[in-house]
Amino acid sequence: MRFNFLNKILLVALLPVAQQNFAQTSVPIPEMLAGNVIDLTLKHRTKEFFPGIATQTIGYNGDFLGPTIILQKGQQVTLNLHNQLGDTTTTHWHGLHLAPANDGSPHNPVMDGSTWSPSFTVMDKAATYWYHPHLHGKTLNQVVKGAAGFIIVRDQEEAALNLPRTYGVDDVPLVFQWKTFDAAKQIVEMDEADNEVLVNGTLNGSLDLPAQVVRLRLLNGSSHRFFDFGFADNRPFKQIGSDDGLLDVPVSMTRLILGPGERAEILVDLSGMQGSTLKLRQYGTQLPQGYPGGTMMMGGTMGPKDNTDFDLLTIHVVAPTANAVTTIPTALTTNTAWSQAGASTRSFGFSAQPMMSMTNFFINGLKFDMETVNFTTQLGKTEIWNITNQTMMAHPFHIHGMHFYVLAVNGATPPANLRGRKDVVVVPPMNGSVKLILRYEDFSDTDMPYMYHCHILSHEDTGMMGQFVVGPGASGTKENAAQD
Ligand code: C2O
Ligand code: CU
Ligand code: CU
Repeated sequence: MRFNFLNKILLVALLPVAQQNFAQTSVPIPEMLAGNVIDLTLKHRTKEFFPGIATQTIGYNGDFLGPTIILQKGQQVTLNLHNQLGDTTTTHWHGLHLAPANDGSPHNPVMDGSTWSPSFTVMDKAATYWYHPHLHGKTLNQVVKGAAGFIIVRDQEEAALNLPRTYGVDDVPLVFQWKTFDAAKQIVEMDEADNEVLVNGTLNGSLDLPAQVVRLRLLNGSSHRFFDFGFADNRPFKQIGSDDGLLDVPVSMTRLILGPGERAEILVDLSGMQGSTLKLRQYGTQLPQGYPGGTMMMGGTMGPKDNTDFDLLTIHVVAPTANAVTTIPTALTTNTAWSQAGASTRSFGFSAQPMMSMTNFFINGLKFDMETVNFTTQLGKTEIWNITNQTMMAHPFHIHGMHFYVLAVNGATPPANLRGRKDVVVVPPMNGSVKLILRYEDFSDTDMPYMYHCHILSHEDTGMMGQFVVGPGASGTKENAAQD
């Protein structure tokens, strides 16, 4: 008895020390690839996430994740995807405004041992995009093992602003990924039981940032769960960009929710903080009910870290750089959504079968079918999409090939940080709704559709997806419009 009691005291006393001593790994910054020809090789690899244990992974040009592709608006680029995976794959350029043939959707399969080389002009605005496989039924399998990377588009408008943009120094891409590791420390596809979070592929990561205004490009690259980001000292930060471009003005906030697939660029003022340490945390207890990572609608949780708050990243503030940005601009750009006058409307409803299912989802009562085009529309048309969610969980809804503007969430004007260009929007649960507006500009292809789907990868793989064809416009616009 007495011995056990003492042992317990010892354990309790040692625990905090043991936690502090758990080695931090400095978060790697992905290599940059720029120019007119970019080569990516997708392969099975291994990586040591846990000391002495080789975990099976998939990476682009490396063990896990991939290089950051840097593109300049207006440039011509050829992306060579070399598939050495031993399986069919695709690579989708998530968020880029592209013709269906260049999009990397399930309709652009790349056979094992072959190379796919889409070539196009970059038409997008400066923002943080990403790439990942998209083979129907295999997206989760390939992405969860590490196949994903950043795309950063730069343009003149963004370059004219006094913003941090020294890659890896004061402008840092950070991909956050919930993962499930099994007892043998292998990554498994059971994304409903996520038990770890990786930052740029690292557990328990730390990052040195200079004592000045820094820019973090946050990507929720998870297969299933949401993040509710905030700093441990509750310091405000400013969101300057959403999925596909800058916001009108920096938006001050202390918490930021990102669903799978969503990106946000934030500025954090670390001026005068040299020598101090700052924690970026997950505030899972503050996620709304029904958002994966928080509590379920029915109450209770699915994964061991759900509905908990924990550190995601330790930031060590180091000496400022020579040309430090020390102020935050007050104006960034002007976002103007298309006029709603004359726009046609479409409705999309999410449902579950049975009604309380957390795994079996439908859009307009249907499962995705490669051979079925769900609707056909026309180049030059503006449409309003009304999306309603009759399920018990939030779904991050994504549309390929173009950006949209969110007009309303649950019938109300969206918060300021959702008023920029977007390509993923979270549709709240329990009859939640989103109203968005988009326009079919530039690309028509009567044979190859664009996709829309839930970005929770198991939902997408099991059919929470649809597709549409953009036909030629009325005024003699040419079919299969070339991109250059
Ligand atoms: Cu990032 Cu269709 O996906
Ligand atoms: Cu996409
Ligand atoms: Cu979903």
